Amino acid sequence: MPVTEYKTTAFSDQKPGTSGLRKKTSVFMAEGYLENFIQAIFDVMSEREKISSMVVGGDGRFFNKDAIQVIIKIASANGCSRIMVARDGILSTPAASNIIRKYSLNGGIILSASHNPGGKDKDFGVKFNTSNGGPASSQITEAIFETSKRLMRYLMSDIPDLDLGKTGSFKTEDAEITVFDPVSDYVELMENIFDFDKIARLFRTQRFSMCFDAMNAVTGPYATAVFEKKLGAPQGSVIRSTPLEDFGGVHPDPNLNHAKELVSAMFSANGHDFGAASDGDGDRNMILGKNIFVSPGDSLAIIAANHHLIPAYAKGIKGVARSMPTSQAVDKVAKKLGIACYETPTGWKYFGNLLDSSLVTLCGEESFGTGSDHVREKDGLWAVLFWLNILASKEKSVSEIVMEHWRQFGRDFYSRHDYEGLDTQIANEFMENLRNKLHFFTGKGSGKYEVTWADDFSYIDPVDKSLTEKQGVRLGFSCGARAVFRLSGTGTKGATLRIYYEQPENDHQLFLNDPQLLLAQLIKNTADITRLQERTGRDKPDVIT
Ligand code: G1P
Ligand code: ZN
Repeated sequence: MPVTEYKTTAFSDQKPGTSGLRKKTSVFMAEGYLENFIQAIFDVMSEREKISSMVVGGDGRFFNKDAIQVIIKIASANGCSRIMVARDGILSTPAASNIIRKYSLNGGIILSASHNPGGKDKDFGVKFNTSNGGPASSQITEAIFETSKRLMRYLMSDIPDLDLGKTGSFKTEDAEITVFDPVSDYVELMENIFDFDKIARLFRTQRFSMCFDAMNAVTGPYATAVFEKKLGAPQGSVIRSTPLEDFGGVHPDPNLNHAKELVSAMFSANGHDFGAASDGDGDRNMILGKNIFVSPGDSLAIIAANHHLIPAYAKGIKGVARSMPTSQAVDKVAKKLGIACYETPTGWKYFGNLLDSSLVTLCGEESFGTGSDHVREKDGLWAVLFWLNILASKEKSVSEIVMEHWRQFGRDFYSRHDYEGLDTQIANEFMENLRNKLHFFTGKGSGKYEVTWADDFSYIDPVDKSLTEKQGVRLGFSCGARAVFRLSGTGTKGATLRIYYEQPENDHQLFLNDPQLLLAQLIKNTADITRLQERTGRDKPDVIT
């Protein structure tokens, strides 16, 4: 097929963050912007692992389909001879990871800004995953950024736009392009992990009711296929199940603030037995029971403690990993199981080497992400199925399972406070100030809340020995509590300061306390020591999770 070379001006702002390149949709729609970044990916990989086969799809947000057409043309022009395209452009992040692994592709491009809102004046994103199915390493994303800054041309095959609505294959002179059903491979993978018969019996015999909120985003078709069609949950168990370009105007972020309908249904007199939600691209999850919210840190710990109930993990798990700011609840489970627990920087890509080298089986982040070695991304529906399988095996309620866990391991009270839209300079100065003053903090505060150690988290990858620095300032207190400070790497406007608070408690009498109340003293003490209000000009966080 003829290839046309287009001239482009290089862009200086295509630095991928925690999870790919994220910008306002209008930025991506500007002439040459998307093209430049995609070409940079192909240029970089041509010197590493050439992308001769790949998958492309996205979370269905505005500009998804147009971007896919562009990517197909650039891929084909750069010698990619096998291009798998998700039907209607709909492909969840974990399903994309599965496709790369199952069909031994060299990589994949996922179009998503995860839980950020979608639309012409909202957010868009591009994520590149490599042949292990996981997000490209920092070394690769850094090389893509460097290349994008110098790029003067991009290549496009002169092929017509593809009909994304119909499955099937067609061949051009250079490539085979296949539009595939994005749901079936994923459902098969889940059937091989979990005990579907047991979960189906739960729905059939025990009048068990669940509500899954797909938030008008990518998991709708997957959740309907799995929960309603395969497992026999009544029709309507999946709500907001059709992917919409603007997610119906909602923030497709599965947390207590954004899944209001689900939350009020779960906390009402005749609430469901089980509730869950996933985000824009299907990699996050929120777990709820009747009148109870399971924090992501607890969910990870409970999943690890109950792994033996799940067919795929019944023979044992190798180790666990969590991102540094994630609650240490899972560490206690790992200790009891006698397996390793790794603490990594924030971002799923840091789990890749651990999973590839079979050092860990399960991993998770406080930001509603949980997953295992079945793919190389976090996986929202997998976590929901994990819980359903636990519930079906134990024949207990969510709250009974959580209480039982706390009684055995203690409860890690946990909360994250986000200060959004800060002036970037103020935010950077605030962090620099903390970093320069680490030694000064020790001994500050008093009683239970005296600072006994402070550091700036850095990580040496146990597999490739690469060093990642400046991953968050940590203050450790005499009672075992922690406060962690870091700046978000996924925002699209200004800077977001995240402060994570954690306090372990073993006293059963305290277990039902509201985390904000229990943590109040720690929060106040931390603000005083770091002069948070004075330095940021903010007296309260914008979002509390
Ligand atoms: C956030 C989360 C992080 C997650 C990432 C991508 O990144 O904190 O755990 O991996 O989104 O989903 P942040 O904005 O904090 O850099
Ligand atoms: Zn996501």
